[in-house]
Amino acid sequence: MQQLNELQTNTLAKIHQAQTLQDLEALRLDILGKSGALTALLKGLSTLSGEERSKQGAALNVVKQAIMDALTHKKEILESEALEQQLAKERIDVSLSPNPEEKGGIHPTNKTMEELIHLFLQMGFSVAEGPDIEDDFNNFTALNIPLDHPARQDHDTFYLKGEVNGNPGVLRTHTSPVQIRTMTTQKPPIRIISPGHAFRADYDMTHTPMFHQIEGLVIDRHIHMGHLKHTVLHFLRAYFGLENLSVRFRPSFFPFTEPSAEMDIQCDRSKGSLKLGEGTDWLEVGGGGMVHPNVLRNCGIDPAEYQGFAFGFGLERLTMLKHGIPDLRDFFEADTRWLKHYGFDTFDIPSALYAAKGDK
Ligand code: PHE
Repeated sequence: MQQLNELQTNTLAKIHQAQTLQDLEALRLDILGKSGALTALLKGLSTLSGEERSKQGAALNVVKQAIMDALTHKKEILESEALEQQLAKERIDVSLSPNPEEKGGIHPTNKTMEELIHLFLQMGFSVAEGPDIEDDFNNFTALNIPLDHPARQDHDTFYLKGEVNGNPGVLRTHTSPVQIRTMTTQKPPIRIISPGHAFRADYDMTHTPMFHQIEGLVIDRHIHMGHLKHTVLHFLRAYFGLENLSVRFRPSFFPFTEPSAEMDIQCDRSKGSLKLGEGTDWLEVGGGGMVHPNVLRNCGIDPAEYQGFAFGFGLERLTMLKHGIPDLRDFFEADTRWLKHYGFDTFDIPSALYAAKGDK
């Protein structure tokens, strides 16, 4: 009995002290394995007489149970400790900053272009495109700007060395040649917008040799200035997100429209900063008018039957005004700090836009 008590006490102490699962398993084998101490005692029972055997047997079972319980308990503790250690070793520290990867964004010009395309598609326009390299005829002559016309000088044209379609080649100075390309290949009714590059030899805070315009053209029966005014008012209010923005049509001159107007939006400069849609000042944003009968005739459209309006806006100008960007030149410097500041997250653009653009 004495021996059994000692065995129990010692074994429980050793179990308590075991440091690893291996130690514990070694202990278990020592006591309960095939040649373990307790196993030997249990085997010895067969040599005892009936009463002695059941007394000793009961005592042995109590000890065995106590040892097994202790082993199970200790095993759970060691296992959870091992798991903790493993987790600590394999832990990923999410608070550590990752290697900073430069993340791109949408350029403000592209953002404006997508927004305007979206707006005009909703109004029933489709997108038309033309090449950056134009011939002098589409860029000027067909638009009622003959060779000796002073308006040619205003455009600071980049002339190309070679000819295009048998005419002097130019980098298009505006998107208006797309009007000609559309009217010579499509029959009215026509309702297009044409976003794209324009080129002029000019460089300062508000002029760069390359910039973007968006052209609009509607040709149908009974079209008048009211349609132009409504269209421009609607798109400017929607683009700037200003429901009550006032738009002013100021009499002007373009060789390809008659009458012609320059379009201004309402603003307030009195408080030191520019505030759109308030106050009594005006800011020019684009030009437009009724398509000149000569232009219609040049494209084989009878001005007695069809009329139309056209307009052109500078995309960067609209962008600068909406987002408070002071210098046009920065748009094309490819400075990632500028792009990070003024660029847009890719998720900002409704995915529907891509589908809509592809439908054209
Ligand atoms: N093409 C003109 C420009 O670049 C803008 C314009 C377009 C004016 C259409 C009238 C009609 O200044």
